[in-house]
Amino acid sequence: MSTDTNADADAESTSNCGGSSGDSGGDSSESKCGASSSPASSSSSRCGASNSDDSGSNEKEVGATVDDFDADPGQLTAVGLGPGQPEGMTERAKTALLDADHIVGYTTYIELLPDEITEQADEIYDTPMCGEVSRTEEAIDRTLAGNDVAIVGSGDPNVYALAGLALEILESKGATASMVDFDVVPGVPAAQSCAARLGAPLVNDTVSISLSDHLVPMPEIESRLHAVASESFTITIYNPWSRKRRENFEKACEILLTHRDADTPVGIVHGAGREDEAVLITELGELEDFGEREIVDMTTTIVVGTEDTYVWDDRMVRPRGYETKYEY
Ligand SMILES: C[S@@+](CC[C@H](N)C(=O)[O-])C[C@H]1O[C@@H](n2cnc3c(N)ncnc32)[C@H](O)[C@@H]1O
Repeated sequence: MSTDTNADADAESTSNCGGSSGDSGGDSSESKCGASSSPASSSSSRCGASNSDDSGSNEKEVGATVDDFDADPGQLTAVGLGPGQPEGMTERAKTALLDADHIVGYTTYIELLPDEITEQADEIYDTPMCGEVSRTEEAIDRTLAGNDVAIVGSGDPNVYALAGLALEILESKGATASMVDFDVVPGVPAAQSCAARLGAPLVNDTVSISLSDHLVPMPEIESRLHAVASESFTITIYNPWSRKRRENFEKACEILLTHRDADTPVGIVHGAGREDEAVLITELGELEDFGEREIVDMTTTIVVGTEDTYVWDDRMVRPRGYETKYEY
């Protein structure tokens, strides 16, 4: 079983969502909805009269509805980029991005795109962080205005990402998924990219938990963590640490230690597939100390082993169970 327990913020930054770094305040450019006048470039235009604040603190209102657009809608594709570097992207993802008129995403992800893709697009709309709702709405409005739009994110669009939000906003605008030929192009999720760096720590029942309390309150996260840690699941922890979430990380370590031995193997992978990749295998009893070190931040995924997981030759191994049936 693999379960993702919440839909999460799209930010990988240590800054606070809802802080003062939203991009809309100083936005002086005009909405370019439906236009393709500017070359591929970073744009902070707002398309389709969205009236929400991009700071992440006031994103509840959806602006334009489907009736505000006259054009035949384009196609909307949620594209997973995988862990980071272009070689980690699927061919299907590259093709979807090359086919898109407009590419929309968090600035960090846009910066990960190869030049051949960004140069091909008519427009690129990126926002520094947070603002997931307004960014997704921007992508939808551009689609309803007749453009083929790709909205990008790291890993897979179904893992703590924007695929679901896109459908929800489409629905709230009175549109349908078919109207924009909505499609999802999968990417390699962080859990899998990170597991690959660690050896073979997943291979059996695994559950993902996000420690971001941006959308799910911490008491709920704690209760999910108790439930999962008390069973024999490998646990992949997303969004493990930020200055603001220091206490969440400490609490998570405490909960894990109430269910698992201190010598349980734990893998920490920062920036899998990126230039600053770092990999470390430690024990659960030591994990909390890593919360104050560079390797654990919002671009880190932590893999917590089970009672069966062991470390062999610097690799985490979780037996699949073959040894109970076969001799080798
Ligand atoms: C909002 S979630 C997005 C997850 C993404 N959709 C996926 O499928 O991996 C962001 C979290 O994913 C994890 N993450 C994303 N890219 C990563 C990478 N290259 N290395 C390690 N963890 C990563 C981190 O835990 C980060 O806080």
